[in-house]
Amino acid sequence: SVDVPVALLGYGTVGAAVHRLLEESADEIERATGHRLRVTRALVRDTSKDRGFSPEPGVLSDDFATIRDDPAIQVVAEVMGGVDPAGDYVLELLRAGRPVVTANKQLVARRGAELFEAAAAGGVQLRFEASVCAAIPVIKVLRESLVVTNVHRVLGIVNGTTNLILSAMEGGRPYGEALAEAQRLGFAEADPTEDVAGIDAAAKTAILATVAFGTRVPLDWVDVEGIEHVTLDHVVAARALDMHLKLIGRATLVGDRVDVRVGPAFVDRHHPLAAVEGAFNAVMLQGDAIREITLEGPGAGGIETASAVVADMVSVVGTTGTGFLQNDPVWRKLERLPAGDLT
Ligand code: NAP
Ligand code: HSE
Repeated sequence: SVDVPVALLGYGTVGAAVHRLLEESADEIERATGHRLRVTRALVRDTSKDRGFSPEPGVLSDDFATIRDDPAIQVVAEVMGGVDPAGDYVLELLRAGRPVVTANKQLVARRGAELFEAAAAGGVQLRFEASVCAAIPVIKVLRESLVVTNVHRVLGIVNGTTNLILSAMEGGRPYGEALAEAQRLGFAEADPTEDVAGIDAAAKTAILATVAFGTRVPLDWVDVEGIEHVTLDHVVAARALDMHLKLIGRATLVGDRVDVRVGPAFVDRHHPLAAVEGAFNAVMLQGDAIREITLEGPGAGGIETASAVVADMVSVVGTTGTGFLQNDPVWRKLERLPAGDLT
């Protein structure tokens, strides 16, 4: 096997979970790719902070140069958030020919053009699956499975924090209490205004529209309204009409024009998005051949987001397996469970 040193920019909710998942899944990753990904550096602000999952001594650093100037590092995951300095760090890495994986939707939505240009010039990958809907592989589906499909509408619940708040309010809990829970569980952004004001959902919807329609949809094209003014009365009114109040992101392609918006909406209880509860997300893709595909799953959380970050890192280092063939050497040895043994 080949040892692959990797680095993290950020070691918070997502960064620590990426490290944990890389360690816990090291054998699976090696089976699938022939590589062992090892976190050798992680950038933080405060190296003395108490952390749930502690790296080996010497891994944490508050100096970006320790990552930038280490030629052994083969992939960097940006999981620190914010547009600056994260954007400048990613740009420097891409210009130096270093592949980057990011979970940062504001960065992709606001500085994507410049970053993808640098990636193309440097001949390196910049992957961003985790930036939209955490564990749901919607970017991969759009870029690979639906590459020949004319997707003309994307509609979804793309923010876990606000969906958790609205679900909790349906159960009679106050807005503030539900927001505090989302923060405690690590779902909310560092500044939760990004969640409740729809800014997070706007960035994700702009990214989805960009990938789905194959054009650049700037963030300032998105018409945004959040849930800050939603009260229990609104939620109760929706239920009285047999509907659910949801924060919906939608992007529609009409000829050669696009309409992209985020805002609260009453959703009929029979609609696929009505049943999406808590920090789950769902994205409906509508297109010519596919008619409609709905993807649903965890839309926030450390380990949930880490699964997408790690998948992108694995894609960057490549695979050595031969695919789904009989006796593929990457397959694990399993035995048949006798009937009746599954409890
Ligand atoms: P977080 O818990 O606040 O962690 C941020 C990490 O980055 C911390 O380790 C922090 O250092 C470090 N950091 C921040 N600014 C820094 C700077 N200027 N210099 C050095 N280190 C810096 O955030 P998170 O929840 O993991 O989110 C990270 C990113 O993932 C964000 O872009 C977010 O939108 C995205 N994301 C999050 C989730 C989620 O459910 N949490 C889901 C999908 C995507 P310290 O530890 O020293 O403070
Ligand atoms: N704050 C975001 C949310 C994290 O609640 O959906 C996932 O992108």
